[in-house]
Formats: sequence, C-alpha cells, structure tokens
Amino acid sequence: MSYCLNPHCSKPENPDDVKFCLTCGTKLFLKERYRAIKPIGQGGFGRTFLAVDEDKPSKPPCVIKQFYPQAQGTNTVQKAVELFNQEAVQLDELGQHSQIPALLAYCNQDDRQYLVQEFIDGLNLAQELAHKGAFNETQIRQLLNDLLPVLQFCHARQVIHRDIKPENIIRRVSDHKLVIVDFGAAKSTTGTALNRTGTSIGSPEYVAPEQMRGRALFASDIYSLGVTCINLLTARSPFDSYDTHNAAWIWPQYVKSPVSKELSQIIDKMVESIPNRRYQTTDEVLKALNHQSPVNIPPTIITKPVTQASPISPEIEKELQELKTQFTGGNVQPPNVPKQPSNPTSVPTSNDAIDKDLEEMRAKFLGNG
Ligand SMILES: Nc1ncnc2c1ncn2[C@@H]1O[C@H](COP(=O)(O)OP(=O)(O)O)[C@@H](O)[C@H]1O
Ligand SMILES: [Mg+2]
Ligand SMILES: [Zn+2]
Repeated sequence: MSYCLNPHCSKPENPDDVKFCLTCGTKLFLKERYRAIKPIGQGGFGRTFLAVDEDKPSKPPCVIKQFYPQAQGTNTVQKAVELFNQEAVQLDELGQHSQIPALLAYCNQDDRQYLVQEFIDGLNLAQELAHKGAFNETQIRQLLNDLLPVLQFCHARQVIHRDIKPENIIRRVSDHKLVIVDFGAAKSTTGTALNRTGTSIGSPEYVAPEQMRGRALFASDIYSLGVTCINLLTARSPFDSYDTHNAAWIWPQYVKSPVSKELSQIIDKMVESIPNRRYQTTDEVLKALNHQSPVNIPPTIITKPVTQASPISPEIEKELQELKTQFTGGNVQPPNVPKQPSNPTSVPTSNDAIDKDLEEMRAKFLGNG
C-alpha cells in the first residue's frame, strides 16, 4: 500500500504501484524516492509514517515525519522554510549518535515540511510496558545509564528534546539499546523551534513545570526522564502518582517491585518541581547513580560481583591492576572480569590479601566520588 500524504485526502490508501494518489492526485513519493506506507503517529505538530526507500535495491524501511504548516503568507512561509532548514542541520548532527535515528533527508513539498529518518526496529517503552509489565530497579538503572549519555550528547549541542516519554523511546531489536525518537519538538536553546506552537510542546504528564510556562531548560529533559521512570516503575499514569493537594510525588507507594532508597532519592531529585533543586546536568545524575556514597555501601558489598558498569575510571582500574601485578609478578585476573568471590576458583588464595587491599583502595575511590 502507498499512503497519500495529503492530510485532507478522503481516501489516502493507494496501490503500491501508482505514482500519484488515485483520489486527490498528490505525489506519493517524497523526493522521488520515499514512499509512505501507513501512519504510525499523529502529534500536535504533524504526522509520522512508516515508509520505504524505493531508491535502494533492498527497499529498506524508513520513517517520514510531516509537519503541519504553521505560517501563512509568502514572507512567513519563507521564514518557516528557512527555520526548518536550520533545524534540519541540527537534527542531522544529532543523528550521528547511534541512539538517535539518522536523518536521511529533509524537504519541502506541496507546501509542507518533511523529515525522513532511519527506521528503528523495536517497540517503544509504552508498548514494552504494556507487554511485559512494570520495570524493576535493575531495569530502571540500565535505562538511565543507557539514556543519560544520549541526552548529554543533545545538551552538549544546545538541544533540549522537550518530549521525553516512554512513547518516544524505542528499544532497538538488534542490540537492545534504547533510541530516542521524536525530535519534532526539540528546540535549540540558541536557535528557534521547528514548530513554535508555544506551550503545546511536550506531553502534559511528562512536562516539567517551567517548560509548561514556556521556559524549557536542559533540566526539563531530566524531569521528563524521571517521570518516565515513575511511569515504568508503577505502570500507571504519572498524574496518578502525584498528590496535587500537597504538590508532592507519591509514586513509591505504587511501585510493582521494591526500589532502593538510593534510586528513589535519585528519581525524586530528577522530578523536583523547582528547577534549582533538580539535577542540573545529566552528568550529575549519572554520578549519583553510579558513585554511591560510602555510608550506604558496607565494605563487604564492594567485594561482591560487580553487576553494573564499574564506576571507577579505566585509568584508576589500570593503576590498581598494575599495582597488583607488581605484587603478584603478573599472576592477575584481566581487568573487567567479575571480582572475586564471584569466581573464587580462578584466583589463587595467596592473592587474597592483596585483593583485599586493592578492594579497599577501590572503595576509597568510590567513597571520594
Ligand atoms: N525512527 C523511527 N523508527 C521507528 N519507529 C518510530 C520512529 N520514530 C517514531 N517511531 C514510532 O512512531 C511513534 C510516533 O512517532 P513520533 O515521532 O513520536 O511522532 P508523534 O509523537 O508526533 O506522533 C513513536 O511513538 C514510535 O513508536
Ligand atoms: Mg512521539
Ligand atoms: Zn490523496
């Protein structure tokens, strides 16, 4: 099937092999190569279509985003086109990140603006939640560790996503990585928005209060990501995890599996209503997530298998390993294998004391983090 891109078409479904809509005559190919197959989304700014790239022999899937015209009159249309072109340059750069869809093309056709982007095969997190149920602490920690660097990448380029929510995060089938989509509302802090419809940008349940008032900050994305975690932990609307009378989040009582005090404090700080009380950067959240404070970690836990990415920098890890080599004459585990006692048989008992010392040093680094 080919799908007519004219929003007013009375019968948009067309056979595969026609070039123009049988009902309204609109061109069915974008840039003579991208053919819409079916709508997969309809937001405030436009529509999203699953499409195919007919120019490539394998006819790979792609995604077409169509934006509703926001301007009338030749001058404003001209201006809108200019802004759109500027924003496309930015999206092109963001698309270099492996967890953001690549921008394949952008164009203006029949007075409408289009972006064509890489298709990400997988379910979005709203769909995953519906299929698999609520997330647990480990899954949320993985999600944050996976997504915060992507946001960091955007923020470093002065782009605020402004619509972070489960629907806009896809778990890619090929590598299980999370991919952020729907940059339609994204706004460069220095430039202008792709679509300037003011406060309607973003989804009410996930939007930070300051963004509601038209002042999105980098921390607004952190807020929305925190609310996303709340939704995934509770499997209920974030509105239902907020006590409006007391202006307080009450999400912990609705989680489906227990959440540690550490994580719950991190999420609470992500969803602070007052921006200054919130984490200001993605880095801060990542540090809080991975450098737990020494009071919360008795030394024994540190010698347990490391399940998360080591919070110690590779340089320090290397130094520790080198130190160990000096003591043991090279009889060492390679770095990155789980620390004993997860694999006690592979470590000679004579090394235990040295290992203990190293673990203590490691704990010191953790404590200072
Ligand atoms: N590049 C993409 N690859 C695969 N699926 C996508 C892609 N972009 C969006 N989607 C899916 O389509 C849905 C709607 O697209 P989106 O860009 O979020 O538009 P909107 O929210 O404005 O309708 C998303 O929730 C997601 O499931
Ligand atoms: Mg969306
Ligand atoms: Zn048509």
